[in-house]
Amino acid sequence: MKKLIAALLACTLTAVLLAGCGSAPDADGSSADQEVNTEAETKGDDADTQADSGAQGSSGDLKTVKQGVLTMATNAYFPPYEYYEGSEIVGIDVEIAQAVAEKLGLELKIEDMEFGSIIIAVTQGRADMGLAGMTVSEERLESVNFTDSYATGVQVVIVTEDSEIAGIDDLEGKKIGTQLGTTGDQYSKEDFGEENVESYNKGADAVMALTQGKVDAVIIDNQPAIEFVKNADGLKILDTEYTVEDYAAAISKENDALTEAINGALAELKADGTVQSIIDRYIVTE
Ligand code: ARG
Repeated sequence: MKKLIAALLACTLTAVLLAGCGSAPDADGSSADQEVNTEAETKGDDADTQADSGAQGSSGDLKTVKQGVLTMATNAYFPPYEYYEGSEIVGIDVEIAQAVAEKLGLELKIEDMEFGSIIIAVTQGRADMGLAGMTVSEERLESVNFTDSYATGVQVVIVTEDSEIAGIDDLEGKKIGTQLGTTGDQYSKEDFGEENVESYNKGADAVMALTQGKVDAVIIDNQPAIEFVKNADGLKILDTEYTVEDYAAAISKENDALTEAINGALAELKADGTVQSIIDRYIVTE
């Protein structure tokens, strides 16, 4: 299946570019770093130096859209990564961005927009980074760079409790709801045909359509899926993984210094347990 190849490719590409692919921080300059030296130059060494000397080192001359400010483009309808609590945007991505900004001596500013506009905001220089539970994909890598990954996402299938759909193969010929512009949207169109996919602006709208019988299933990232199913009646998540993906921040290809600085900050925040403790506060696993 195409989506599987794409996911694998994305993973390989991520591994090549970032020596990442869901792996733990590679502060020890592990073998993965050696393999990628030609592609990513001496990225491993740079990252180590930054992690040691503190990411603040380079912040003084960091070029951002607005001097002294880290502008984050997101789509705040994706709990627990970013969502509204009253008028405030909160979530895993917000807290990670806050911690990164602090390390870089920058003030965090969040711009909420449609998911499909995030990469454009980054490439057009209106935002410094896209942080939105965004999957590293081969297609996106054509227009932006990604930082090292900070979390893993899994595309899952939500159906009604009484549904006859029990696995991915049963989706053939069924109506699938997705969030427009997401990997779930893209891969299901490739695998099951555009005519069978109904794309909604928000994931919650796709789930609503499922409860109303307008679609037969929803393909979306696992953590928002858990939240949406919790807040609706009569829905369940199939025990099957459509794709497994890496989340990372999207940065302009023109701002390598920022990608490196954020990678340095992320490495420190992973090493001292900050990233994990943020994730653990939002995702409680029994
Ligand atoms: N991980 C998926 C993707 O990158 C969905 C992300 C949706 N994020 C959001 N904030 N709405 O395509």
